[in-house]
Amino acid sequence: MRKPVIAGNWKMNKTPAEAKRLAEALIPLVKNACCEVVLCVPATDFLAVGEAIRGSQIKLGAQNVHYAESGAFTGELSASMLKECGVLYAIIGHSERRQFFGETDAVVNLRVKSAAAAGLIPILCVGETRQEREAGYTDALIEYQTLIGLTGLTEQEVREAVIAYEPVWAIGTGLVATDEQANASIGVIRAALARRYGEAVSQAVRIQYGGSMNPGNAAGLMAQPEIDGGLIGGASLKAEDFASIVKVCGV
Ligand code: PGA
Repeated sequence: MRKPVIAGNWKMNKTPAEAKRLAEALIPLVKNACCEVVLCVPATDFLAVGEAIRGSQIKLGAQNVHYAESGAFTGELSASMLKECGVLYAIIGHSERRQFFGETDAVVNLRVKSAAAAGLIPILCVGETRQEREAGYTDALIEYQTLIGLTGLTEQEVREAVIAYEPVWAIGTGLVATDEQANASIGVIRAALARRYGEAVSQAVRIQYGGSMNPGNAAGLMAQPEIDGGLIGGASLKAEDFASIVKVCGV
């Protein structure tokens, strides 16, 4: 059975001092969680959060990773740099990276490959805009983003990867996909994985929902058979809210 992953995406929030307080507040609240709990924090918070969560079951994540090992890529961080800071997961291809920083599916794939090769678990984000949904392209788009994003990974790396289905229109908007919409889209992704990698691999891959998930709607979403956890933005910035989402998976 797939173990759900609840990951907080702090985005560009929390100074190291604020991050330490948030992580410390969270630890007792999620200590018996049945799911994996990951905090994807700004790189400036790796040290503070890494120290705070040491010895707990919370894991450290990054919000991106570069595809080169080192070199002239101002402002970027390599997988080995992240690993040495204790990072285990890396969000890749988040819609904000695609939208505001021009990241293409080809670049997203390079980043996913370098993360996986270094032993980081990629959290590959896919999802349609409102216009794409209205035009009827959701299924084709998320299938394409998923398969191109994972191209070049070994079968084992695909099994271990996490995919986050995040409809762009639901991110940070308070609009949430209905339980059925989210389950159906995640089912489309799993079916695409089954066609490409076989049924067993597709059944092993964890696929999260993301987009305005909060303590009020998490239980309904997580009760859906295809949904294996969540990627949580806004609601991950408050310890109580994030913990109540984690607790939906059981404690
Ligand atoms: P949100 O963000 O929960 O604030 O909508 C989710 C995300 O961007 O990963």
